[in-house]
Amino acid sequence: MKFFIDTADLDEIREAASWGVLSGVTTNPSLYAKTGGKLVDFDPHMVKICQICEGLPVSAESTASTTEAMVEEGRRLAALAPNIVVKLPICEASLPATHQLASEGIRVNMTLVFSAPQALLAARAGARYISPFVGRFDDIGDEGLDHLAEVVTAVKNYTYGYWDEEGGPEIITASVRTPHHVTQAALMGADIATVPFGALKKCLKHPLTDQGLASFEADWKKVTQA
Ligand code: G3P
Repeated sequence: MKFFIDTADLDEIREAASWGVLSGVTTNPSLYAKTGGKLVDFDPHMVKICQICEGLPVSAESTASTTEAMVEEGRRLAALAPNIVVKLPICEASLPATHQLASEGIRVNMTLVFSAPQALLAARAGARYISPFVGRFDDIGDEGLDHLAEVVTAVKNYTYGYWDEEGGPEIITASVRTPHHVTQAALMGADIATVPFGALKKCLKHPLTDQGLASFEADWKKVTQA
């Protein structure tokens, strides 16, 4: 499974990229707002992310609400850098927009996906990436991972005639909160997990690793002090 980072924070992106584990970046309007960025800085900010992560897919979300405006904004965003992926929320307006953008070779990441039928429609329309959300189900007392399993199985049952040569459509496990989400997504065969930096750091940690390291250090002191 590939790791994307789910943030618009440049320092977090730089640090995660330095780990050598990053295969892409996803952003959304809330994540951009969290950086304190303003509308006028949005395009340059996306360009900076694309430069930090040269060659890796960087999702920039459209806030348009009609098909025509989504296509127009999608073309504008895609022109910012060759690695931009246009993120669109699943809805009636975004399906034809995805279809049009895909026919122009522009990659779409279909977001706010919460069900298998939504994911199948996104794949049929030509989405390059499909982003089912996990944590937001857990937030309302539902089992996000059960819904993710349905999406993965349903989407992987078929081929769609778009992005085949790139191995698409790929499923991005989104709204990830914990290492457990990452483990289960990988066991299901989800292609990608997009993980906030805090959760990515948690994936690196294990109490037995810390304990093992402490005892190696203590024992090595005995060796060097002898
Ligand atoms: O980027 C989309 C998704 O990952 C957002 O997650 O934590 O806001 O539910 P969250």
